[in-house]
Amino acid sequence: MRFGAPHRHYRLTDSTNARARALVEAGAPRGTVVTAGEQTAGRGRQGRSWSAPPGKALLYSAVLRPLDERHLLLPLAVPIAVCEAAELLQPGIECRIKWPNDVWLDERKLAGVLIEAKPQDGWAVIGVGLNLSIAPNEFPPDLRETAASLFGSGKGSRGKDRRSLPAVAPPTLPPTPLTAARSLSRHLARWVEADRDEILAAWRSRDALRGREISWRNGSGLADGIDDSGDLLVLGAGGERFVLGAGEVHLRL
Ligand code: BTN
Repeated sequence: MRFGAPHRHYRLTDSTNARARALVEAGAPRGTVVTAGEQTAGRGRQGRSWSAPPGKALLYSAVLRPLDERHLLLPLAVPIAVCEAAELLQPGIECRIKWPNDVWLDERKLAGVLIEAKPQDGWAVIGVGLNLSIAPNEFPPDLRETAASLFGSGKGSRGKDRRSLPAVAPPTLPPTPLTAARSLSRHLARWVEADRDEILAAWRSRDALRGREISWRNGSGLADGIDDSGDLLVLGAGGERFVLGAGEVHLRL
């Protein structure tokens, strides 16, 4: 399949996910993509909001329909596609995934994924916010220590992997949101149709939490990878095993 035809871009809108949902409910075809330069009501996971300075992030929503059993692992497939797109846009970086689908660069959040689906009507909207060229002081104060940007955030764009590039490598320019959208569309098209084993293997190879101490409202332990349905496995201090579902818990590190 292909994402990006049709492609609707808004200079300013409330939320690309909200626009994509309205389009899909009005019959928009699979592959429809909505992007925006700026959102006034960007949505994040677990009821949070999502904001970014105008023109400095990819704000992207794509329509996937119809849904079938291959899409059960969609929440794992999407961040893999985001990692691959980001790594092509900024050669030399390596992205990891913080369960279930945050994309991390150098231990900071580079991108978030919000999938809104109506399985009974056979569609999903895949929302991605990817920080492209946000300077550290442009993030809200509470995110300054934990957010990354592909370009413009001192840490994210100059991590250890980048330093290992040859000294002659030309400086890369920040991609425009349109370039980033095209790249993401290509990688998404591949990963939404990938088979389970491939998705699980790729996700596990980018697992940022494995072996780390994590806690949530009702417990804590060592992250121990994901099971084949994408739930997080955790090993408690007394040897007990926990299985956490993505919708249920908010992790602390
Ligand atoms: C998260 O909480 O990590 C998910 C954030 C997802 C944000 C993106 S920005 C484009 C799309 N439109 C929205 O309203 N949300 C998603």
